[in-house]
Amino acid sequence: MRIGVFDSGAGGLSVVKSLIKSEYFSEIIYYGDTARVPYGIKDKNTIIRYSLEALEFFNNFDINLLITACNTVSAYALEDMNQQSKYPVVGVIKSGVMALERHNIKKDDSILIIATRATISSNKYQDALKNLGYNNITAIQTGLFVPMVEEGIFNGEVLEATMNYYFKNISTPSALILGCTHFPLISDSLSRYFKNSPTLIHSGEAIVNYLEENYSLRKQRYETKLKIFASDNVLGLREIAKKWLSL
Ligand code: DGL
Repeated sequence: MRIGVFDSGAGGLSVVKSLIKSEYFSEIIYYGDTARVPYGIKDKNTIIRYSLEALEFFNNFDINLLITACNTVSAYALEDMNQQSKYPVVGVIKSGVMALERHNIKKDDSILIIATRATISSNKYQDALKNLGYNNITAIQTGLFVPMVEEGIFNGEVLEATMNYYFKNISTPSALILGCTHFPLISDSLSRYFKNSPTLIHSGEAIVNYLEENYSLRKQRYETKLKIFASDNVLGLREIAKKWLSL
């Protein structure tokens, strides 16, 4: 099975890591819109327009499925992309929310969602959680983590101060939804901050479980081939991929 993965930039590589590890895919075509990242501070129409343009990029490839690794794209553009696409386009929000049941999170357990400004204001996570009966939900925009991860800051005092800034009035949740591609890279620090007690929901792991349940996937005999493309500085993105995929 050959699939496409679309992200606003490098962050979606955190999802690619789980997809490769799953051994289900013969080839992954990754496209990062590095010329226009970040999407998380843009408005709905811009996010939809950029995402539909990315769809045109994937017309050059024969793929069976496209995953929008970017939570911001998943929040705003999934419907429009599916309307214009020949293959299914799957986002990361539904699968992320469904992962809570797999982790035995109870309906009145406290759930904290952290994501970009655009994802949080779309209310997509909050609505999907409410539809499943979860009622103890806190959602906060933690956009500063995005450039920090891009700078390679995965722990240390700057990150500590930023976590303190965002979370000082937040009590430790039962589950923490990492609602942004970049956040799995700081998952150890986030977990430590909350004294290792929340269950962390990672988009990459959640989407693999979701695909297993909804598509007939077969393990591959050979390693997944990964082809990386970008709208700007593709060599830089390939360098980041080497680093992040080996972490
Ligand atoms: N990929 C985005 C997301 O998961 C984060 C980076 C951005 O703002 O474009 O929401």
